[in-house]
Amino acid sequence: MTVPPRDTALLAALKRSFGFDAFRPGQEAVVRDALDGRDLLAVMPTGGGKSLCFQLPALLRPGLMIVVSPLIALMQDQVRLLRESGIAAAFLNSTLAAGEASQILAAAHSGELRLLYLAPERLLMPDFLDGPLSRLVQGPGISAITVDEAHCVSEWGHDFRPEYRQLGLLRDRWPDIPVFAFTATATERVRADIVQQLRLRHAAIHVASFNRPNLFYAVRPKGAQAWPELLDRARNGGCGIVYCLSRKRVDELSARLEAEGIRSLPYHAGLDAQTRRRNQEQFIRDDAQVMCATVAFGMGINKPDVRWVVHYDLPRTIEGYYQEAGRAGRDGEPASCTLYFGAGDIRTAEFLISQKLDPNSGEALEAEQRIARQQLRQVLDYAQSGACRRTIQLRYFGEAFPGDCGACDNCTQPRTTEDWTLEAQQLLSCVARLAQRGERFGALTVIEILRGAESQKLIDRGHQSLSTYGIGRHRSLDEWRHLVRALLHQGLLAESTDGYPVLALVAESRAVLKGERRVEVTSAPAPRETGRKGSRTRRDKASTTAPVTGDAARLFERLRSLRKQIADAQAVPPYVVFNDSSLREMAQHRPVDSDAFAAIPGVGSHKLAQYGPAFTSAIRAFLAGRAADVEVGANPLEGPPHAV
Ligand SMILES: Nc1ncnc2c1ncn2[C@@H]1O[C@H](COP(=O)(O)OP(=O)(O)OP(=O)(O)O)[C@@H](O)[C@H]1O
Ligand SMILES: [Mg+2]
Ligand SMILES: [Zn+2]
Repeated sequence: MTVPPRDTALLAALKRSFGFDAFRPGQEAVVRDALDGRDLLAVMPTGGGKSLCFQLPALLRPGLMIVVSPLIALMQDQVRLLRESGIAAAFLNSTLAAGEASQILAAAHSGELRLLYLAPERLLMPDFLDGPLSRLVQGPGISAITVDEAHCVSEWGHDFRPEYRQLGLLRDRWPDIPVFAFTATATERVRADIVQQLRLRHAAIHVASFNRPNLFYAVRPKGAQAWPELLDRARNGGCGIVYCLSRKRVDELSARLEAEGIRSLPYHAGLDAQTRRRNQEQFIRDDAQVMCATVAFGMGINKPDVRWVVHYDLPRTIEGYYQEAGRAGRDGEPASCTLYFGAGDIRTAEFLISQKLDPNSGEALEAEQRIARQQLRQVLDYAQSGACRRTIQLRYFGEAFPGDCGACDNCTQPRTTEDWTLEAQQLLSCVARLAQRGERFGALTVIEILRGAESQKLIDRGHQSLSTYGIGRHRSLDEWRHLVRALLHQGLLAESTDGYPVLALVAESRAVLKGERRVEVTSAPAPRETGRKGSRTRRDKASTTAPVTGDAARLFERLRSLRKQIADAQAVPPYVVFNDSSLREMAQHRPVDSDAFAAIPGVGSHKLAQYGPAFTSAIRAFLAGRAADVEVGANPLEGPPHAV
């Protein structure tokens, strides 16, 4: 196939500046529209590679690119990464001294700076608009205004920021400057809001698939084995996040992991801001392996090499789960997302929903409770389903996925479904008989009646005379519980949430009782095979890349510690130096000279010059069997690190 010259030039620029050999899906089309100076909205999942879609055009188009970003942490992270690739980028925010800010503006003016990051408050200050910004428009010119995390303009999104609403002012004032909007929020309503609020003109709209093929999704029962499984996962290595519902649980789990020798830190809103910041920084710098956190932890975490995310408690919504689990594997390398789920979670969730009360009147906030209940049902569907987990998640975002993904527990070890119509009828008719007597009970009592328990309570209440007494002895207590859960989540039975949960029939129950509807129940998930063999098989299927083993694994670890030393010496996170995929390629291809090193993905011209010598000599030393003798001082690079 002949490649048009423009492609070659674009790919060369991609490799030179960022070290990548190819675009990720969807990136190239966005970059082309950006280069053409069109307004655009690009919707891509977390870790999809949105930054590159405006950063590469910023290098290729004349003028300075303004980037609007909502969080200082996000700006710092991106600017750090860009500078590390030798790209002239800077941010203006409250952390800078006055002198620094004017230096940056001077660099922008001279045309030296390619990208300038700002918070919307700062950008929209009248003094800034009339002063520096107007001068920049007159001087080097503005290539485009990029609005990152653009969902912040929408009240329908999850991180609404009123200042984002004012950004439309820029369009009114400088109608010829293109506006690029980026977000990972998938809903239609938010997209429409972005186009309207930012006053985008004939915008090119790009919506990428929300499928994250490198993530392996699994749901595990929350029984006694949950903790040993978690420990096992942490011991197998890789950075991980454990999400819990309560602060107490976060603290407990983190302490327990620490006690087992795993470097773990807590993160939740009960910790003071300084501790939170410190813990986050330690995690980002690989000084801690595991972060135990509530959902307070997340926004602004760009760490690309999180290898696993565990939800120790049930998430509230599918979207929340998708975003939280999606913090794994932003670098595109294989990563796993595991949700632990037990019957107790349903009760806790329902209790929390019932606590949604009007603070003034103390009355139930009915609309909110109804929405929360519906969201809970969707999460339960996800947790209890035997279908492809990806299909369920993507359906939630309106995307049809054919299933059989090969990278979720249900696709790699399909669960069988069984016909439990008879048992469902027995259970529902027992609930109906009780209702006829004006009695309502919780699942346990109903199951005791079905199993013909001989307890004094049942005798006193005359339950032994019910026609359904003892008709379900052939099933165990756990099996009946499993059926009740399945009926609840399939909407064939209801459980009250007004404190003491009692069972009640719903309209759909009749169809089952009349034999018009069959009830299929997925068999309970089997305990995970223990030992390395089992988990290795899983990982192979999840990954598109082979796991690093043997000698390559040892070299990988060696390169990892070199990376950590370099990063510490420069006070940056290790992933800023190289990400895991680059290290894996180095460990496999073992480049020992500059040309071979340049071919490694993630090695652009700047990093080649800066790090090539240190890494190739470490590899040479390793190959010579002298890995232990490699001399690495406090700063393993000769000379001071380059800074822009
Ligand atoms: N073409 C590419 N080849 C290889 N890696 C890439 C490519 N483009 C981006 N990446 C890597 O993908 C990771 C995620 O990119 P980025 O931070 O731009 O994600 P994002 O889409 O902005 O996600 P979020 O919504 O979380 O902000 C980064 O580690 C980046 O280096
Ligand atoms: Mg981003
Ligand atoms: Zn699947």
